[in-house]
Amino acid sequence: MCRAFLPTDISDELIDGVIDAATQAPSAGHAQGLHVVVLVDEAREKLWGRSLAPARRSTFRWQGLLQAPVLLLIFTDPSSYVARYAEADKQHTDLGEGTQRWTTPFWTVDAGMAVMSMLLHIESLDLGALFFAFPEPIAEIRAALGVPEHLETIGIVAFGHPDPASPDARAAGRSAQRPRRGASDVIHRGAW
Ligand SMILES: Cc1cc2nc3c(=O)[nH]c(=O)nc-3n(C[C@H](O)[C@H](O)[C@H](O)COP(=O)(O)O)c2cc1C
Repeated sequence: MCRAFLPTDISDELIDGVIDAATQAPSAGHAQGLHVVVLVDEAREKLWGRSLAPARRSTFRWQGLLQAPVLLLIFTDPSSYVARYAEADKQHTDLGEGTQRWTTPFWTVDAGMAVMSMLLHIESLDLGALFFAFPEPIAEIRAALGVPEHLETIGIVAFGHPDPASPDARAAGRSAQRPRRGASDVIHRGAW
């Protein structure tokens, strides 16, 4: 993850390419519940203005993140999964009866896969990205952007050119200092 960016603009074509990569990700029943709100320029600045009061902004740990030229706000539509699974070929699953029938919320799983596709595409272009939690005030930001009520908030992908002069451009977070678990740490062969 990259948390320090150059303010260099990113072309609309490049942004579209990143989102196109997201649309190639798999989804349950090919329901494809992904929605992305793209914020650049003043709209991007407005989001930071709403989430970071001036006093907090000056002490914000990731100053280089505030320069990211593009913010992709990721949402998922659970109702599109319920509707898809109510179709004839999926009716036997009972998942078309409502979200409460789903043991695993595949609309969330699929959004994660779509975000990973974006991150890999961004990385392949030698650009940097950070996926981060949607900041408060979530309801106010959603309302200002006109996001329909039934969509669930997933998070935000900030991306752009990494700032080579900043140590925050690579693996700088406290969490990233935790040792990475390897295959032998996660494998349970045959059974737990
Ligand atoms: C679901 C999720 C939420 C995350 N939220 C944040 C966040 O709110 N702020 C942040 O700085 N990093 C966030 N991260 C980035 C992680 O801290 C980072 O991926 C992890 O420390 C490993 O570092 P690396 O991705 O650079 O290898 C998030 C990552 C994921 C997958």
